Amino acid sequence: MCGIMGYTGNNDAREIILKGLSALEYRGYDSAGIGIYDNATGKVRVSKCIGKVKNLASKAEKENISGSCGIGHTRWATHGGVTEENAHPHQVGKVTLTHNGIIENYEELASEFGIEENLVSETDTEVACSVFNHYYNKYKEPFKAIYKAVKCFRGTFAFTIIFEDIPGKIFAVRNVSPIVAGKTEHGTMLASDLTALSLFTKEYMVLGEYQILVMDKDGLELYNIHGEKLDIEYLTIDWDMDAATKKGFPFYMEKEINEQPEAFLNTVEPHCVNGLPDFTEEGLTDDVFKKYDRIFITACGTAMHSGQVGKGLIEHLAHIPVETEIASEFIYGEPILDEKTLVISVSQSGETIDTLTAVHKAHEAGADTLGIVNVHGTAIARESDYVIYTSAGPEIAVASTKAYTVQLAVFYLLAAKLALVKGRMTEDKCRSFMKELMSVPEKIKKVIKDKDKVHKLATRIVEAKNVFMLGRGLDYYAILEGSLKLKEVSYIHSEALPAGEIKHGTIALISDETPVILSVTQDKLAAKEISNAKEVKSRGALVILLIKDGVELENEDQWDAVYRLPADSDELMIFSVTVALQFIAYFTALDLGLDVDKPRNLAKVVTVE
Ligand code: M6R
Repeated sequence: MCGIMGYTGNNDAREIILKGLSALEYRGYDSAGIGIYDNATGKVRVSKCIGKVKNLASKAEKENISGSCGIGHTRWATHGGVTEENAHPHQVGKVTLTHNGIIENYEELASEFGIEENLVSETDTEVACSVFNHYYNKYKEPFKAIYKAVKCFRGTFAFTIIFEDIPGKIFAVRNVSPIVAGKTEHGTMLASDLTALSLFTKEYMVLGEYQILVMDKDGLELYNIHGEKLDIEYLTIDWDMDAATKKGFPFYMEKEINEQPEAFLNTVEPHCVNGLPDFTEEGLTDDVFKKYDRIFITACGTAMHSGQVGKGLIEHLAHIPVETEIASEFIYGEPILDEKTLVISVSQSGETIDTLTAVHKAHEAGADTLGIVNVHGTAIARESDYVIYTSAGPEIAVASTKAYTVQLAVFYLLAAKLALVKGRMTEDKCRSFMKELMSVPEKIKKVIKDKDKVHKLATRIVEAKNVFMLGRGLDYYAILEGSLKLKEVSYIHSEALPAGEIKHGTIALISDETPVILSVTQDKLAAKEISNAKEVKSRGALVILLIKDGVELENEDQWDAVYRLPADSDELMIFSVTVALQFIAYFTALDLGLDVDKPRNLAKVVTVE
């Protein structure tokens, strides 16, 4: 959460930082700010404002904030409301600083350092800034000041710091929250992630925890926390730099929905060897898989929804017991784990703090960990024993779409692999399963082609206050995700329920014209689902059916809207119904005139508990 960007060099720092911040806005967009060293006065001039980076751009221009060394920030508020005072950068004495993370002991520190009276904001960051300033005044040199200050902090942080009397240099230090940095012909820069950095350079380095990065116009230098110099390992960005642009779509969400067939193949194909699922590249050999007699899946939000499908598939195909637990519950619960348990954590960003903490907890309990992660080199990937990367490419819209689909794809591969290894599936059966899996992109493309038809369904719910979604089996898992999508982008309350459960209470909320969306994609459950649809219809509900092509439907006209999904085996239907539900959410938000990519109160990367 929060995006940070810094630049020092020969070019206009304001322009570069604002461009980087715009790319990082998906990490938070409550307020934004910039601080640039002003050669004329020898001071760092700060401009900040509530709202998005475009507001900051006009304000900073009006205030004529300019120079060639500066830092910027886009904020997702944690401590203190959304106000200009609470926006970053913060300044105390000679220190100007931006922060991503949370300093948990900031109240204790404020009283220990006797600074409560002087604070102008309500933030933990301003307290941290004061602590840096205290030690900088005391030791008169940056390394000792940074060392002493970070020793005081409990929590997570990525700090970028300008010391007013060290012009042209930016210092950075981090714990958990990420920082990447790189150099160009005209200077050096750092950012929270590669989405921003990739706009300027392909070569980058990842700042390690408790390392100190020093940047100036000529290059980067790396030190350990004691100020001893370290070698820098440079990496190359291996994604298509164009992938993080909208490519003509009005919103990233639509573009990313459209990218799903390709993302699916990019994820599945490398793991299909001689027609069978294979993870040897990741160190997951048959012997490794044989070791586990239980699986635990932990994640948050959409990633958890993919995990729930994973549970269904692994239990169905491989007969291995699987438990799922939301990461924020897992870390404070008492999950029963041992060395025969594989804990799978799923995360698009690889940074979600609860999921990362779950990985630590699993290790402490002696379990092996497998991360299913989209962003390379991130904390969850690095700290898991095994990692399977999904190949969605950069996902910019806050609402996850393609990342979910490829997480599902990995669970299909894993379930088939486990079934094979445990002798629950023959090689022949597995080969035909893989063949069917490879045909999923065609089904997804068909729904994408039908997007106008799906848009019509969305027009039926656009004025609703509440929507209900019903399904059984895999349909239930699909609507869990569909319902989250609708809520987060349209702000319409939506509740997903197992279809058979509605009459145990929730049906009391159904009255005339209450929209109810049913996912009917499982041959063996269709009749039951349709009879649940009749139950709500007879209470006046406006019923929308997303139904597998070929499933018989008597008197189709009795339903308010019907969309036929391309037929596939029951197990694979979740992909096409997911895309239809994504479009329903997207078009509803679009028709409501909302900022689809940046829903209120949310951020793409959740690095606070
Ligand atoms: O980066 P992660 O996959 O760990 O993020 C977990 C959730 O915050 C995330 O899936 C969230 O629910 C989606 N962005 C919602 O669309």
